[in-house]
Amino acid sequence: MKILLTGGAGFIGSHTAVELVNEGYEPIIIDDFRNSKSFVIENIEKIIGRKVVFHCTDIGDQEKISSIIKQEKPVGIIHFAADKAVNESVKNPLKYYHNNIVNLIKLLSVIDKHNIDSFIFSSSCTVYGSPSFIPVNEKTPIQPAFSPYGYTKQVGEKILTDFFKTKQQTSLTMLRYFNPIGAHPSSLIGELPLGVPSNLVPYITQTAIGKRKELTIFGNDYNTADGTCIRDYIHVVDLARAHVLSLKNKHSYNNIYNVGVGNGKSVLEVVHSFEEINNLKVNYQFGERRDGDVPEIYADNHLIKTELKWEPIFSLKEALHHAWAWERELKSKYKIG
Ligand code: WQD
Repeated sequence: MKILLTGGAGFIGSHTAVELVNEGYEPIIIDDFRNSKSFVIENIEKIIGRKVVFHCTDIGDQEKISSIIKQEKPVGIIHFAADKAVNESVKNPLKYYHNNIVNLIKLLSVIDKHNIDSFIFSSSCTVYGSPSFIPVNEKTPIQPAFSPYGYTKQVGEKILTDFFKTKQQTSLTMLRYFNPIGAHPSSLIGELPLGVPSNLVPYITQTAIGKRKELTIFGNDYNTADGTCIRDYIHVVDLARAHVLSLKNKHSYNNIYNVGVGNGKSVLEVVHSFEEINNLKVNYQFGERRDGDVPEIYADNHLIKTELKWEPIFSLKEALHHAWAWERELKSKYKIG
């Protein structure tokens, strides 16, 4: 069964392509490498041991997307293609409204003319804003978004819910990702931040390898045990597996699932776990709070565990070990770093 992956050469998309093949699906990857590199496709092929179908296309190009859908006839679509940095979205909101909302509408206009069994959307825990109760479950009331990025995910969910109400033959699943980290255990694919990383773990690995002088921890005066923010860090392979299980899910036609491991770790705990598992030291200093950050959030993942039988396999330390192996691979093989 063919599954179209928009943004399939990206961090989560590439790992999902591999997991789809492991479960007998045929991924059809669309990407224009604006946030990735072409060697990712070659390395997906190394992991799966064969060629993968790939189209180098901008997701906003409706004519091309339409002809790819006509040609490939996918039964499902997983829509990864979007921008994802909370802080960048505060500085450049229009980029986020364009890439995350305008392009989503363009994609839906194309698929309006086709029959698709499943549509899976990369949503985010940022839809909860700064929640009054933690852990958050799928019924936790949505608060005003803290960033334009979070707002694009709230609006995206609403657009999809309204659109797919008119298309009862399609099962819609919106996966609210918590913080994806790590890399494939083969060290062939992983996160590829272009320029200065805005996410914590690539910043840690780039500091450890000497590409960055020092990690700045954004704020140590939050109302948490050690004063730093708390997040739910999930291994990217575990997150990828949630997409495959969503395709198999015939539970209902409109599904929302939190995808997180279900416990919160502070920024300092992540830094210290990284140092411990990889036996090295990371230079860090404390800085100002970052715009758009919520103090604390982690998932109640009961729903996805019961309905999709999903369980995380990898620990935080394994994820940090894989992230470090990937960073070293980037430096030695691709001279990135
Ligand atoms: C984590 C923590 C920072 C960098 C991410 C994704 C977003 C979404 C949710 C969906 C925060 C701190 C970071 C640094 C730091 N999920 N930090 N120094 O903002 O939670 O958002 O998860 O896919 O798409 O981007 O993740 O990794 O940027 O930050 O102290 O140099 O690390 O303040 O507390 P965030 P992040």
